[in-house]
Amino acid sequence: MDSMKRTIAIVVGSASRDSINRRLADALMALGADQFDFVDVRIDDFPFFNVDISKEPPAPVLRLKKEIGDADGVIFVTPEHNRSIPALLKNAIDWGSRPAGSSCWVLKPTAMLGTSPGQTGTAAAQQHLRNVLSTQQMIMMGQPELYLHWKEGLVDADAQVTDEAVKKRLNAFLDRFVLWIERVGAKSA
Ligand code: FNR
Repeated sequence: MDSMKRTIAIVVGSASRDSINRRLADALMALGADQFDFVDVRIDDFPFFNVDISKEPPAPVLRLKKEIGDADGVIFVTPEHNRSIPALLKNAIDWGSRPAGSSCWVLKPTAMLGTSPGQTGTAAAQQHLRNVLSTQQMIMMGQPELYLHWKEGLVDADAQVTDEAVKKRLNAFLDRFVLWIERVGAKSA
C-alpha cells in the first residue's frame, strides 16, 4: 500500500556518465518502485572535506543531511576503486558525519550492493564500506550480499534487468530490506 511506502535514499559512489553502478541503481529503483519511494542522493558537488570548513557546511552538504535525515533507510551502490570505495563516496560519508555529534547517518537502517567488470564484483569495496559505516552506528543488513559481476547488457536502456537470476537476487534484496526496516527502523510510518 502506498501509505506504507518507506523513503529510501540511494547513494551511488560514481559520478561517471557511463557508470555501471548508476545503471544498477536505476534498475534497483525501477524494481523497487512499488515497495519504496526512492530519493536519488547527489554527492558529486561537494568540496573535499576539510575540518576547517566543516562547521559551516556548504549547501550541497546540507541537502545531503536533509535527504538522509528524512529517509527511513539508505542503500549504497558502490564501485570498487583500488580495492576500496571511491574517494567520492568516502568524501560524502565524511561530510555527513560532521560536525561531531550531528552525523546524519547514525542509526539509519542501511544495505549495500555494487557491481564491477571483475569477478569479485565490489566485494572488497563493500567490506571497507562496512567498516566505515560502523563508525556511524548505521544498522547494516548483513544478507543478502550482492557482489555483481557486470556484463554488458545486464541492464537495458529502460533500466530493466535482462538476466532473470540477477533480477531474482535484486528482488530478494529489496524484500529483505523492507523487512529489515520494519524490524530495526526507529521511524514509524
Ligand atoms: C577501478 N576498477 C576496479 N575494479 C575492481 O573490481 N577492483 C578494483 O580495485 C578496481 N580499481 C579501480 C580503480 C580506479 C581508479 C578505477 C577508475 C577503476 C574498475 C571499476 O570496477 C570499473 O571502472 C567500474 O566501471 C567502476 O564503476 P562505475 O564508475 O562504472 O560505476
